[in-house]
Amino acid sequence: MTEKKLQVSAIQNGTVIDHIPADKLFDVIDILGLDKINNQITFGTNLESKKMGLKAIIKLSDIFFADNEINKIALAAPEAKLNIVKDYQVVEKKIVEVPDSISGIAKCGNPKCITNHEEIITKFQVVNKKKVALRCHYCEKITDSEHMEIF
Ligand code: CTP
Ligand code: ZN
Repeated sequence: MTEKKLQVSAIQNGTVIDHIPADKLFDVIDILGLDKINNQITFGTNLESKKMGLKAIIKLSDIFFADNEINKIALAAPEAKLNIVKDYQVVEKKIVEVPDSISGIAKCGNPKCITNHEEIITKFQVVNKKKVALRCHYCEKITDSEHMEIF
């Protein structure tokens, strides 16, 4: 039997976000605002995964998110799995859930929408959770996942 070697070092305490599609890593970083955090963060991308081809993983030391915060990443990575680590042990696993509504994460796909012309925070109703589609609160146009731009 071959020993399982971690591709990104284990953490002592914090949150591991696993099973992120490799091409969505930077969207997840944006959504969670990780560029503004001073904690130790390690990540790996283009790692091989049997389940999903190439995946990315983010390890956040001493950070524990609230559920509503973490569910925002479902927009970019609906299959992501969270592992809560305490004293090197995984003490809890969480799956992300696509929220019913979101604000200020995505851009409205309608070029004529007021949110693309004035300083207004975007607001959407999530109309399809499987293949994420958003209905703009202001112009009511649908933005689907292929056209979704994360701020
Ligand atoms: N992990 C970590 N530091 C620890 C413990 C776990 O970074 N101290 C990471 C592991 O590298 C893995 C994830 O947390 O990416 C989940 O750990 P574990 O449940 O042990 O792994 P698996 O059983 O492979 O998880 P999965 O549910 O994804 O199959
Ligand atoms: Zn709009």
